[in-house]
Amino acid sequence: MKKSEMNIGVKAAITSRRSIRQFTSKPISNEVITDILEVAAWAPSGTNIQPWNVHVLTGSMKGKVCETASKSFLDPTTNNKNDRLHYMEKFRDPYISRRRKVGWDLYTLLDIKKGDYEKTKSFHVKNFSFFGAPVGLIFTIEKDLGWMSWLDYGMFLQNICIAARAYGLHTCAQASWSGVHEDIAPLLKISTNHLIHCGMSIGMEDKQAVVNKLRTERADLDDFVTFHE
Ligand SMILES: Cc1cc2nc3c(=O)[nH]c(=O)nc-3n(C[C@H](O)[C@H](O)[C@H](O)COP(=O)(O)O)c2cc1C
Repeated sequence: MKKSEMNIGVKAAITSRRSIRQFTSKPISNEVITDILEVAAWAPSGTNIQPWNVHVLTGSMKGKVCETASKSFLDPTTNNKNDRLHYMEKFRDPYISRRRKVGWDLYTLLDIKKGDYEKTKSFHVKNFSFFGAPVGLIFTIEKDLGWMSWLDYGMFLQNICIAARAYGLHTCAQASWSGVHEDIAPLLKISTNHLIHCGMSIGMEDKQAVVNKLRTERADLDDFVTFHE
């Protein structure tokens, strides 16, 4: 197959996905959310175990969860349990440079100066209002599932992001929700053998919002692909 024969609809859906951090309040029907989740659940998973569980939050329950999570995040007496937000013990290149670049670009857009913890926190807390999105998703996984299931989960999450594009919707995956597990698990009646590892905002992009002007970069193929013949 030649490059031009790639299904352009799929390509456009994938490449038009960006993390959106301010949404309009335009509601999304449960019918649309159901369709997106049904499509996403066609993700492959090792031995088809399908390790995903999703809580769909709208209306007053979303309000309640957001209020509790924001309070927890802002409470100086709780040490915001972000220890599960683990990438690597000690960051090294190329990862640290990429991480710094996106942080720098985002904070420059938002006019947040290095060391301005108050302004940084006021931005971070917006995670816990799903950046104003009408629908918030909370994802859990059973605690004893291994890394293969976490791989499966990534496929499912990406499918949601791509399926949302078919409706003109945007998303933001949010690992930040893992940090408030203890506080919101009781509200959602999440059983003790489950772990919240991620949330996701889903809605229409607020096109006027400065934060949504962020464009991230990707490494060149030469940096991560080796062709063998
Ligand atoms: C698993 C995962 C967790 C993420 N957690 C957060 C988060 O908590 N808050 C946030 O603003 N962005 C979060 N992001 C978004 C990333 O910062 C974003 O995907 C990355 O910078 C690339 O930008 P793009 O999504 O616009 O292409 C997360 C993304 C992924 C895949």
